[in-house]
Amino acid sequence: MLKLDYNFMMKEHIGAHGFTVEEIQKDLPKIQSALRTVVDNSGKGWQEWTELVNTPKKELDELTAFGADIRKKCEHFVVFGIGGSGLGPLAVASALLHFRHNELPIERRNAPKYYIEDNIDPNRMQGLLDVIDLKKAYFNVITKSGETSETLSQFFIVYELLKKSLGEKEARTRIIVTTTIGKGTLYEIAKKEGFRVFDIGKGVGGRFSVFSNVGLVPFAVLEIDVYSLIEGAKASRVNSELSDIQKNIALITAYLQVKSMANGKNISVLMPYSDPLKFMADFYAQLWGESLAKEVDNDGKKVNCGQSPVKALGTTDQHSQVQLFMEGPFDKVTTFLAVSDYTANAPINDILGVENCDFLKGRSLNELISAQMKATIFALKKQGRPSFTLTLDQVNAFAVGELLQYFMYQTAFAGALLNIDTYNQPGVEEGKKATFAMMNRKGYEDKLKEVEAVKLKSDYMI
Ligand code: PA5
Repeated sequence: MLKLDYNFMMKEHIGAHGFTVEEIQKDLPKIQSALRTVVDNSGKGWQEWTELVNTPKKELDELTAFGADIRKKCEHFVVFGIGGSGLGPLAVASALLHFRHNELPIERRNAPKYYIEDNIDPNRMQGLLDVIDLKKAYFNVITKSGETSETLSQFFIVYELLKKSLGEKEARTRIIVTTTIGKGTLYEIAKKEGFRVFDIGKGVGGRFSVFSNVGLVPFAVLEIDVYSLIEGAKASRVNSELSDIQKNIALITAYLQVKSMANGKNISVLMPYSDPLKFMADFYAQLWGESLAKEVDNDGKKVNCGQSPVKALGTTDQHSQVQLFMEGPFDKVTTFLAVSDYTANAPINDILGVENCDFLKGRSLNELISAQMKATIFALKKQGRPSFTLTLDQVNAFAVGELLQYFMYQTAFAGALLNIDTYNQPGVEEGKKATFAMMNRKGYEDKLKEVEAVKLKSDYMI
């Protein structure tokens, strides 16, 4: 089970930037009200994501069978999806598949090589097409809205190539669509072309969709244990609904983060000491960043709130960003992700008789990475910098399910404490409209005029 240590959020350990038990006690009514806002709305409106843990076993069995069938037929499995339609699959596949999955020889891999394409740099597309064999490839096109131009463009490019290479009939079988059934351009195309379509529930937002078909379809193909993943998420939901703040990990950490925000901590660092968990920081960055950054609160008051997520990795970033965390502005809270049992073992048996490396003799990378993490936590504490640590027993499907669900509940509680709409993202709309205008999409003529009215001065260009 996920464990939390928030000692170093407390004044008695870190001084001025920490909190007291009395302060927490005083805020209990606010905290309880945030808990009720989230829990009482489970399954309603944009909070359908809380119900994904109740996906019936029969549905999971069907998905697993579907995944096994595709797996048999394919060598390259490609996901096209961006934002919430890519980051969940990326975080889970990176955590749970062999660390060098794609490089393993075929007999040591149960699943096809996988590629999660969440960007549209032409070099990336070219690179993908250079390494996959279209004749042995399947594509999962994921977009909740069915309208995202990045994802649609990737699909259009590949579908044309598939048709040329395999003929129309076979090409159709190579596209698996995950979208909102009954809505959007991709759904219309899928219906017309006869693609296999998986639904994303209407009340499940992109960044809260990892336990929907957005994640489950690729996980089933890649033989990731979806049952344990969902079990882990379920355990986290149970914990997140506890009214005792001393037991509810998502609630207490949401509260401590929001209280820190009010204290000028505008940055939230997520630092896993685990390479398989590296992309958890990307998942968290979108979830925390997009959900909590809002111009106005639920009462229409201008608040411009939010906390900028920073992705870090231990120990790599000890040699990079930790100097900033230690001595830079007092504007950060760091969340450490620790792992008790790395499962792999890397002993250091021979140190070539080098005297000043004696301390490494007979030790292991396991001991070294754990010591490095504890040392960094200690060093930050000494500098009076707030941090808390979440510990996973192991990086397995249950623990990963638990962690992802924890992030979602923590975000929902933080949104409720901030009294904002956690589930919208009005700030990204302007950029989308300007893109359509610049690509001369019909209906965006006025926006194009507005964009072109901005006259750049050559004085400011070198
Ligand atoms: O969280 C969100 O809703 C967004 O970040 C979306 O996931 C992202 O914009 C992609 O949208 P779509 O799945 O509609 O292609």
